[in-house]
Amino acid sequence: MHRSIAFLSTDDLEDYFVWDDLLIEPFAQNGIKVDVISWHAKQINWSQYDAVIVRSTWDYQLHAEAFVAKLAEITEQDTVLINPLPLIQWNISKRYLQTLASKGITIIPSVFFDSVAISDIYAQFDHFDTQEIIIKPLISANSDNTFRLDHASLMGQAGPLSNIFSTTPCVIQPFLNSVISEGEYSLFYFNGEYSHTIKKVPKSGDFRVQEEHGGELISVTPDELQLETAAKVLAALPEKSLYARVDLLRNSSAEAGDIWQLMEVELIEPSLYFNMDEASPERFVQATISYLS
Ligand SMILES: Nc1ncnc2c1ncn2[C@@H]1O[C@H](COP(=O)(O)OP(=O)(O)O)[C@@H](O)[C@H]1O
Ligand SMILES: [Mg+2]
Repeated sequence: MHRSIAFLSTDDLEDYFVWDDLLIEPFAQNGIKVDVISWHAKQINWSQYDAVIVRSTWDYQLHAEAFVAKLAEITEQDTVLINPLPLIQWNISKRYLQTLASKGITIIPSVFFDSVAISDIYAQFDHFDTQEIIIKPLISANSDNTFRLDHASLMGQAGPLSNIFSTTPCVIQPFLNSVISEGEYSLFYFNGEYSHTIKKVPKSGDFRVQEEHGGELISVTPDELQLETAAKVLAALPEKSLYARVDLLRNSSAEAGDIWQLMEVELIEPSLYFNMDEASPERFVQATISYLS
């Protein structure tokens, strides 16, 4: 039996909503003590833990190399890093979406760039035959440096956009209005088993769904097609995960024909919204015990 695990977190969570405290008690009831440790902490003896679970490391995208180096250091010690490092390395850049698309997963239409000029961005309105696009860094979280653009706002923000994206690899997609009219769905899977689903709706005037940006959380029951889409995504991952969050948007454009498209599969530090489903903390604890056995 595993007796002690660490949740990997960060130094300052003041501006964030964290729901992982809801796991501490159910883990304790199963004889497992949890310590919460910042990934910035130095000289931790990770081998005292049966497992180190990456949870709320919510500044990793700002220091991606140092973060991966820290995870590599942890894996060198006698413990189990969860999710495993190869899966995290695979998931850290949104380029994995291209890989999933090549395996038959329906992703939001995407064009990937190592660097872009304003003219490249402008060309995407025609490419996607749309009035609005979204541009986001390949290594990103919490909607950092994510821009919703029409022709006018692209020209209005050409300076800052060029500053960021001339050196930051990015993905450009059509802006799907369903994020506002309906919301973004997240389906949660623990050790490959379905757990629960929520949708997030941005606050009025915003397109970012995160509660840190005023978004609203709603518990929902997924439809058959969402479950089918998410199951396909899970089956296409390079290896087994303790947790996976599949984020879907509806695309009802003429070309797409009203289907669920993958926005992200989150394998690094997604919020798992244990506050939205009473039974989900216990499910996560049991999934962790099975995963480690
Ligand atoms: N193609 C899109 N259409 C509409 N909204 C989008 C689109 N892509 C991203 N968004 C919005 O931007 C947010 C951040 O994008 P996302 O791909 O989830 O990146 P990350 O969570 O890594 O910052 C999403 O939660 C959603 O609110
Ligand atoms: Mg996201």
